[in-house]
Amino acid sequence: MAPLVALEMVRSPIAGPLTPAPTELCKLATVAAVRNPSKEAVIASVVPVSTAVAEPEPARSARVLASAGIAERRALKVSLVCAESESPSPLQAIASAATTTREFSTIPAFYSISKWLAVFDSGAPVGTPTPGVNCSNLVVMLPDIMPPFTATTKTSPAGFPYAEFEARIARRDFRDMTRDVLPTPCMIVDEALFLRNVKFMADQTKAAGIALRPHVKVHKSVDVAKVQLAHGAIGLTCATIAEAELMSRSGLQNVMWTKQPASRNAIVRAIALSIEDPTFLFVIDDPLVFHWVQQAAAAADAQVRVLVSVFAGMNRQGIENGQPALELARKVASSKNMTFEGIMAYSGVAAHTKTFENRREQSAKDLAGPRETVELIQKSGIPVNIFSGGSTGTYNMDHENGLTELEAGSYVFMDERYFIIGGKDDPATFTDFAGALTVLSTVDSKHHPNQATIDYGNKAGVRPTDKVKGMPGLTVSSQGAEYGLLSWKDGDKDIQLGDRVEIYCTVLDDSTSYYDRYYVARGEQIVDIWPIMGRDTGRSGAAWR
Ligand SMILES: Cc1ncc(COP(=O)(O)O)c(C=O)c1O
Repeated sequence: MAPLVALEMVRSPIAGPLTPAPTELCKLATVAAVRNPSKEAVIASVVPVSTAVAEPEPARSARVLASAGIAERRALKVSLVCAESESPSPLQAIASAATTTREFSTIPAFYSISKWLAVFDSGAPVGTPTPGVNCSNLVVMLPDIMPPFTATTKTSPAGFPYAEFEARIARRDFRDMTRDVLPTPCMIVDEALFLRNVKFMADQTKAAGIALRPHVKVHKSVDVAKVQLAHGAIGLTCATIAEAELMSRSGLQNVMWTKQPASRNAIVRAIALSIEDPTFLFVIDDPLVFHWVQQAAAAADAQVRVLVSVFAGMNRQGIENGQPALELARKVASSKNMTFEGIMAYSGVAAHTKTFENRREQSAKDLAGPRETVELIQKSGIPVNIFSGGSTGTYNMDHENGLTELEAGSYVFMDERYFIIGGKDDPATFTDFAGALTVLSTVDSKHHPNQATIDYGNKAGVRPTDKVKGMPGLTVSSQGAEYGLLSWKDGDKDIQLGDRVEIYCTVLDDSTSYYDRYYVARGEQIVDIWPIMGRDTGRSGAAWR
């Protein structure tokens, strides 16, 4: 008897949105089915009996498939399972359905989705039932949902059906999709290292008593943000209104935009987003921008949540601390269209200051003024809910400087400019987080001694400070728009035409803008694709401003 694979909860008896969306669950069914087509996959629809009667099979399964974007029924057997009653929880409804229908007979009790996938992969019921699983648990489980592939056979590139590449990605069919079949240059996320980074930062900030509102500028990915939120992040920080729109319109809340709206376009969009998503926040660092936003918000009858951005050692943004910042805070707090939320103070100089002790000193210096400003505002009777700032470099010191929350971003992937700042235990290398993202590149040409040409050129973001994974003696440089150069001094390295190399980028904030997706790798196997800037929005890519 084939075990249950996935669920589609079309209509929940309880109120409120279902997360993940029913279509995502359906996609999971597809993933599970294509992973092992010899097994039977079941999409279980939980509906009150009355609905099922009104729309019997096969019309119902056709609609379920269509809503999940599944064109073909290959490898999928769809069956309908009805909950017998309006249960208090949709998952309890599934559990009760599971015990009353033949298809579920091999499942002794109710499993979480990830366990069900494990059951599917192993071919036998395993593990302990998870009691009390609910929809919010599902969100947490999504990133970990894929159990290890049991049979990872490395495919020869010659055997891979390249004509189907994009179609397979569209239906999330990653069978035989190993690193060696990917088009290059492309970005690869090492899933295990990425998750380790996310968990480590979550644990460290929790232990230090500081909230985490991670900056998305480094990844620009809804999927990455979801993992960060699932691990306890209180919201997200964005550099552009487009990033904020992307995150918020993907259903992610408490998005903070750290650049003030200074153009008509940006003001209109910031106000529109505030109306659409009352959890959205943005900064203002100038009385003139306060005036513009105030006028636009009043005209739209909107309420916007504002932080005052203050100077924190970087001549890029931030009103002068002390009296000027207090006056701006007063204006915001007394505006009937604005809610004053607090202070944003990004100490970008401290972020990349070398050695732990120097960095700690720099950060304390940069945040001394903002800290006094916070006290001044509080003394004036205005509550300061948020004191935000910090970075990956200062993640383990900024709780000492009064910040209530940390805006660190790079830690998810890490880049070369961060490795060289040195850590608490190693003054030469910052090893707290692992390099989880590389650019995969192919050796295109090799005719000259001590050098090889790769396809990682200017259009792929090549920089002379990039490093080759596992080959420290190699130098990376540009040979033009589509060409990069690997060179070395000591004799002939074993680099051949057609070889693949992986590059650690210098500045990922920049480099991720050159690409439109991450290939998520579990070892050699690709297990997911995460779009960069864009998902069901009709707009995508780095040019979306
Ligand atoms: C406003 C702001 N906050 C926080 C960060 C911290 O990011 P990271 O941890 O990537 O250094 C940045 C990075 O540029 C930033 O611009």
